Amino acid sequence: MNKHRPLSPADFAPAGLVQPRVRLATSGEAALLNSTTAAAAEEMFAAAAADGISITLASGYRSFATQIATYNKWVAAEGQAGADTASARPGYSEHQTGWSFDIGDGSGQDSFTPAFATQPAALWAKANAHRFGFVVRYPWMFHERTGYYYEPWHLRYVGVEAAVDMNTLGVATLEEYFGLEAAPGYR
Ligand code: DAL
Ligand code: ZN
Repeated sequence: MNKHRPLSPADFAPAGLVQPRVRLATSGEAALLNSTTAAAAEEMFAAAAADGISITLASGYRSFATQIATYNKWVAAEGQAGADTASARPGYSEHQTGWSFDIGDGSGQDSFTPAFATQPAALWAKANAHRFGFVVRYPWMFHERTGYYYEPWHLRYVGVEAAVDMNTLGVATLEEYFGLEAAPGYR
């Protein structure tokens, strides 16, 4: 999904959400993922820990109602144009699917800021997430294709086969990988 590909219905809610057994920096619905994504996250966080890197789950599932509130907060702070570079409109967020989540560093430093890109958790995820089926969905300098500025914290599960293939091919975005048009803005 992207700014040209919303959920249908817009208030879609996935079944079978679970809380992964990982270090949490959030609670409630935001600590939930779908079971496939949760299992992959558990494997990835454990592998990072084995490398001495502490990753936290900072924000997972977001219901349609929560995304309305989240997006409206962004609009109040930044105006609509600014909000649209960072927060999906309700019905357009991968967080609403259970397939995506945001990570933090175990230190708690620089969460959801550009400086997070150089935190150990972000560097480890950028180098290793594909091995567990994840892509950094909004990479640096691809906002004209993905619709969002760099989010080194936002991971999307696509399965190991696709994620490793993208890494091998050097394809940075799902838009390019699936042959989709660029989606810089809403239609
Ligand atoms: N921050 C991402 C784009 C979202 O709101 O889903
Ligand atoms: Zn996110």
